[in-house]
Amino acid sequence: MPLSDFPRHPLTFGPSPVHPLERLSRHLGGAAIWAKREDCNSGLAFGGNKTRKLEYLVPDALAQGATHLVSIGGVQSNHTRQVAAVAARIGLKALLVQESWVDWPDAVNDRVGNILLSRIMGADVRLVDAGFGIGFKSSWERALAEVRDSGGVPYPIPAGASDHRLGGLGFANWAEEVRQQERELGIFFDTIVVCSVTGSTQAGMIAGFAGQDRPRRVLGIDGSAKLEETAAQVAKIARNTAALIGLDGELSDDEITVLAGWAGDRYGIPVESTLDAIRLSGRLEGMIIDPVYEGKSMAGLIDLVRTGEIGKDSTVLYAHLGGQPALNAYSALFRS
Ligand SMILES: Cc1ncc(COP(=O)(O)O)c(C=O)c1O
Repeated sequence: MPLSDFPRHPLTFGPSPVHPLERLSRHLGGAAIWAKREDCNSGLAFGGNKTRKLEYLVPDALAQGATHLVSIGGVQSNHTRQVAAVAARIGLKALLVQESWVDWPDAVNDRVGNILLSRIMGADVRLVDAGFGIGFKSSWERALAEVRDSGGVPYPIPAGASDHRLGGLGFANWAEEVRQQERELGIFFDTIVVCSVTGSTQAGMIAGFAGQDRPRRVLGIDGSAKLEETAAQVAKIARNTAALIGLDGELSDDEITVLAGWAGDRYGIPVESTLDAIRLSGRLEGMIIDPVYEGKSMAGLIDLVRTGEIGKDSTVLYAHLGGQPALNAYSALFRS
């Protein structure tokens, strides 16, 4: 059925802002770079890409009579923070399994930033000792069972709300929003740059844009340091989402691009290019990006423009997906 027929529970302010990054564009000497800002898309705990995805999961949770949103992520997960905010907003409880996805030595890693915000919002936060992965975990199964045993109705939301039937719809809707904003602005973004980890952000975009007349490139920048897994996940979710919103025909492999080169060796650990990108965005544009996701996709964007892979006559939309609260766990990197 068409996207507009899926129930959507509004959690955002409306279309997220789109604006040019003029000083960055000039600095790189080519390509007109714009940003679309999911980091200020909502009044719910700083918003972000998951808030958009959750707009399509909430009606399903409410229809099932859920009492708890149950989800999983790393200790500094932006996703679980947004689940906590949404649960608070709709009057449900949040149970969050927070795993040690990142081997990051900051002494306050499990006290500041995202996890602090989730605690403030009343979420039941469970720290467990398990590594990075986007699959289903026993700790998570236990959390679901615990809610059931206490008479509640859990609504399971996988990591990043990605491996979920409705997970791609939020960003299919983003694609539609871009088309409307382009009409208002009288421009066309031929290239989109987006960070990919659990996959449904980029996948939703691909499915959404596939239904439009004018082709464009959606370049995913891998932030997981596990390119094959991420690319496979993006492809799977893009195809499922395209089918769900009734698009004819299969998406071809060349419509699904996830690029490696900026994630470093490990998810969650910034490398030189990440830190350079964070400083450059801050100093030229006053735009804050994080060391886990957006710093890596911005590093990719910078290199792709510099090498001419994104041409000088290109008009690029950088999807800023949020994530700044995690910066608080990385303060030591910016002391000098
Ligand atoms: C700030 C931020 N950017 C990018 C991503 C990647 O999005 P996705 O997991 O949908 O691929 C995430 C979440 O994983 C995120 O929190």
